[in-house]
Amino acid sequence: MVRIKVRQNGPYLIETDEVTLVDWNGRAYEIGRRPVALCRCGGSANKPFCDGTHSRIGFQAAEAGRDSE
Ligand code: FES
Repeated sequence: MVRIKVRQNGPYLIETDEVTLVDWNGRAYEIGRRPVALCRCGGSANKPFCDGTHSRIGFQAAEAGRDSE
């Protein structure tokens, strides 16, 4: 199972080494750092990866998980 963690006011972290990220043509992105952090704020200059811009722009997201029913 792949676990994706939503960081508070930050990126999506894909917490596995067994991941390949591809674009709309099926071409793989080179993944430099693990875990993979995907931009959630829209401000990264290195999309789809997080580059830390969320901190500089003060990105805030209020959504949190809920208990499943
Ligand atoms: S979430 Fe980190 S740069 Fe967007």
